[in-house]
Amino acid sequence: MQDPLKQSFLKDINDISSIQELVNLKAKYIGKKGIITEKIKNLGRLTPEERRSQGKILNELKGFIEETIKNKEEELKQKEISEILKKEFIDITLPGKDFYFGGSHPVNKTLLEIIDIFRELGFTVEEGPEVELDYYNFEALNIPKDHPARDMQDTFYVSEDVVLRTHTSPVQVRVMENKKPPLRFISPGKVYRCDSDVSHTPMFHQVEGLMVDEDVSFSHLKGVLVYFLRRLFGDIPVRFRPSFFPFTEPSTEIDIGCIICGGNGCRVCKGTGWLEVLGAGMVHPNVFKFAGYPEGRYTGFAFGMGVERLTMLKYGIDDIRLFFENDIRFLRQF
Ligand code: PHE
Repeated sequence: MQDPLKQSFLKDINDISSIQELVNLKAKYIGKKGIITEKIKNLGRLTPEERRSQGKILNELKGFIEETIKNKEEELKQKEISEILKKEFIDITLPGKDFYFGGSHPVNKTLLEIIDIFRELGFTVEEGPEVELDYYNFEALNIPKDHPARDMQDTFYVSEDVVLRTHTSPVQVRVMENKKPPLRFISPGKVYRCDSDVSHTPMFHQVEGLMVDEDVSFSHLKGVLVYFLRRLFGDIPVRFRPSFFPFTEPSTEIDIGCIICGGNGCRVCKGTGWLEVLGAGMVHPNVFKFAGYPEGRYTGFAFGMGVERLTMLKYGIDDIRLFFENDIRFLRQF
């Protein structure tokens, strides 16, 4: 009689897959109104003999059921834990996610490097306005209104006598108007020209330089600029070519041996083996006159360079427009 009961219990517990079901099963058999509990309550109706044998069997069955339920409960809990562990598993051997910090723009990196080199040589830093008077951008630099040299630069005019500066050279005059020699400064900043292709953008950066004193000579110019270029590019050949700027006399353009092909001739140096990197010269006497300096007292040299161009050469970049597209994949390489 107990065997079918035990059998049905074993069948029931076999089907169980959750703690809640197990609680219900426990109530069904050994709860307050459970099957076994009822049977034990009813033992009193039996004869003493039957009571003893039935009682023993029922107690054993109850014990068996309690024990089995306890084991099942343990088993279900373990199952639950291992499922949680499986679900929430963290593979600590996986590499972490990359986290990018912001960085300096390549043009700014080169600019800071340029400033550092000149600072070591005792040059200070001066600034001038980007919206500039025609007077400082042209007139005072010995470029009168009808001068053909104005055609060299495609000027953005704001009004008849106000321009977006086409170079940083106007800062030369602004500083000389306010300071007496000895002067030794550079002036970095934005300049604007109406021009756009793989090597020109309407806005780019220049660094101007000026050194003025009583006995500044062309050999000072040469010493400073050769030193500067070798600091920036390493031990490279440097050559000076005669050139023309209205505000310097004599004027020169300075080339470095092509750092792409090592001087053998390539697409970047257009087969010449040389790359132009600087314009320079001895300050024209007329510029000193415009600045209000006494005639014949001072000599000096000036120079100017394009920062984007130097950056392109330094990093082997062949399109200037990449600097201004702000494509993060490009910028992250520096
Ligand atoms: N201002 C000139 C340019 O933009 C460069 C230069 C500066 C040349 C100073 C000589 C002296 O091309």
